[in-house]
Amino acid sequence: MINNHSDWHIPEHVGIIMDGNGRWAKKRALPRSVGHKYGAQNFRKITRYISKQGVKVLTLYAFSTENWKRPADEVGALMKLFRQYLVDSLTDFREDDIKVVFIGDRSAFDPKLVELINESEEVAKDRKGMLLNIAMNYGSRDEILRAVKMIGRDIRDHKLDPDQITEEDISSRLYTAHLPDPDLIIRTGGEFRLSNFMLYQSAYSEFYSTETLWPDFHEDDFDKAVMEFNRRNRRFGGV
Ligand code: FPP
Repeated sequence: MINNHSDWHIPEHVGIIMDGNGRWAKKRALPRSVGHKYGAQNFRKITRYISKQGVKVLTLYAFSTENWKRPADEVGALMKLFRQYLVDSLTDFREDDIKVVFIGDRSAFDPKLVELINESEEVAKDRKGMLLNIAMNYGSRDEILRAVKMIGRDIRDHKLDPDQITEEDISSRLYTAHLPDPDLIIRTGGEFRLSNFMLYQSAYSEFYSTETLWPDFHEDDFDKAVMEFNRRNRRFGGV
């Protein structure tokens, strides 16, 4: 457990790109949907562990704006898992005082899933523990475009002067408004790219990629990522 190491700096905001469910299943000659099922189980377990380590905000990339391009049966299986694991997690996360919120465009989901998303947020709204941000139908370009439209409307309505726009005017119109930028972004499954995840917010995030596939990413893998984070020298553009 990393919080036993008092000299370790625990990142305040961690983002995770949960990749590799499909390959995990393929290695076992199982359908991709089974990989997602194990991935969803892992989501519950690792979220609880990360909250116990003292992380304040955890953002998990569960479904991107591009994931709709997947075969209909895979999208269907993912939606079913979201429903099931959101219900199951409500109890777990209550015990851990984890506050659940969602980022992304929820209007594209089935109304029953939207109801569950709203309900999950509602029951958790007064919790004081870690903030769990679940990114669903989230894409950072879409998020930035949405912010640009809001700014455009505010200029039109004379609420903003184009010459006075600040970075804060942009960040406060993103889904992550008022949250600290991510300190550490972990990607499982071995790729080295952000795949449209928190593009604006990650300007100075430390990026950690591991070959470990998401269903196999356990407590000690998270500890390794934090250890590596502690070895980095963050300069934020300074010297
Ligand atoms: C990427 O693996 C994973 C996803 C697109 C889905 C992630 C979703 C979960 C882990 C479930 C989370 C559940 C909740 C309730 C939030 P991939 O299919 O791209 O794997 P591959 O690169 O090996 O094909």
